[in-house]
Amino acid sequence: MKLINIAAEALHEAIPELSLAQVISLLEKPKHDQHGDLAFPCFGLAKQKRKAPQLIANELAETLKSPLIEKTEAVGPYVNFFFKKDTIQQIVVQRILQEQNEYGSLEIGKGEKVVLDLSSPNIAKPFSMGHLRSTVIGYSIANILEKCGYQTVRINYLGDWGTQFGKLIAAYLKWGEEEKVRSNPIPELLKLYVKFHDEASDDQTLNEEGRYWFKKLEDANEQALSLWKWFREESLKEFDKIYKLLDVQFDSTNGEAFYNDKMKAVVSLLEEKGLLVESDGATVVKLEETPSLPPCLIKKSDGATLYATRDLAAALYRKQVYDFSKALYIVGQEQSIHFQQVKAVLKKAGFTWAEEMHHVPFGLLLKDGKKMSTRKGKVVLLEEVITEAIQLAEENIQSKNPDLPDKGEVARQVGVGAIIFHDLKNHRVNSVEFSLEDMLKFEGETGPYVQYTYARANSILKKGKWTAGEIKKGIKDSYSWELTKLLHEFPVMIEKACAEFDPSVLAKHIVDTCQSFNSWYGQVKFLTEDDEKTARLSLVAATAFTIKESLRLLGIQAPEEM
Ligand code: ARG
Repeated sequence: MKLINIAAEALHEAIPELSLAQVISLLEKPKHDQHGDLAFPCFGLAKQKRKAPQLIANELAETLKSPLIEKTEAVGPYVNFFFKKDTIQQIVVQRILQEQNEYGSLEIGKGEKVVLDLSSPNIAKPFSMGHLRSTVIGYSIANILEKCGYQTVRINYLGDWGTQFGKLIAAYLKWGEEEKVRSNPIPELLKLYVKFHDEASDDQTLNEEGRYWFKKLEDANEQALSLWKWFREESLKEFDKIYKLLDVQFDSTNGEAFYNDKMKAVVSLLEEKGLLVESDGATVVKLEETPSLPPCLIKKSDGATLYATRDLAAALYRKQVYDFSKALYIVGQEQSIHFQQVKAVLKKAGFTWAEEMHHVPFGLLLKDGKKMSTRKGKVVLLEEVITEAIQLAEENIQSKNPDLPDKGEVARQVGVGAIIFHDLKNHRVNSVEFSLEDMLKFEGETGPYVQYTYARANSILKKGKWTAGEIKKGIKDSYSWELTKLLHEFPVMIEKACAEFDPSVLAKHIVDTCQSFNSWYGQVKFLTEDDEKTARLSLVAATAFTIKESLRLLGIQAPEEM
């Protein structure tokens, strides 16, 4: 039960003319701790009861009772509530220790399936910062949804089809060298692609050639197909290195190419529904009902299909195969119009389930305020960035704790955790300034800070030789009470993060929890042999479980020692 309900139920019983919801909306958090945990203002009741608010407050303070309320006090027109801290703490801690990593699990999504379209890098191009954000945000949302009882399907919708591959094939056949591509695939392919674009601005026939080769690809020409397959495999090998570092896995990697043979069906379906119109030689669906939406391009004049056509095919396929109750697209906000169009076309075609397709947008990763795509004219290779983070983490560990066992693996968890946490700690639509130095700090709102707090809690438990057992007595200091309240709120935070597809709710909550834990740590001697020791260590253990689970939901590992 939420703490606010304890006070609200007592109030509702004493003033039945106010509903429980009304009471809850009136309850406030007092500004000062000496005014208790919650305050109820009586102004609103004055008219109804024809009594001064002060008097009402006095009367209420006398009558309110609950086994979890220590006392109530009237201060002017307010009734202040003081909870039985030690009892509540015992209940909360006992529950966490019992449920462990199941603490906070909910059943809101029981029996429902959600498909998530995430990561989705484009082959033959570097894995971009945008794709990193999609991977990290999408992965965490999927974890949170599962925690809430949903079944999830994580789909890496690879960008492995489209006119750009026609251009790439044309470029490779003109200027490419097999050896170079083999030894350094992504930068070499990118170079070819860029060269193609540069030359095509003066030479229109090049674009023709590009289109020609894409048409061949769509028609399953052997030469085109074998080059495309090769580029794809080389790219996937590179992407897999990144996924391995990040420790992410997918349930499906059916990308755009997978839908190549399912496109005709989409076009005929739209045709049958009478939605297709010709426009400048191309085939489109007009979306006039929404004036802000341009027509959705379905087929180019040469018959080649487009990004939107493939997304339509993918949505229909996923509905059929997975029968999802929600479909989430974790994609940068610059694609917002595209997803509105896809959804609008499906709704126009009569698919009411399209209502449950949600674009979950996010902002940019910036470097010194600028979009992070090139560094001194050179491509930033994500693998190098991650490796650098891991190296920096390792240097840090080396100076702080040189004897740590398994340093390499801990450094990976810390370096990667730092990048992920930095991404998730602010609401996803905000842009993120990418600074390895900031994200790797052991203080402040960082991944390493949270991981370090977890390791600290563990080391206290080890030193105190803690074993789970009955907690006979609660603790009464105000530091541990703040912490208790935060731990108690964890399930509410999970519910909120789930409803809003927003991992930052959990990231912020766990930073607050760690700060509260660390200020408690600064105030008391945990290991003193007194009658509160078991209760103290149990609270430390409950904190450790909550931090670990919260990090897991964010997609971050928690080393036992650091
Ligand atoms: N590959 C695309 C890009 O890099 C992202 C794909 C997003 N998902 C989708 N279903 N369209 O822009």
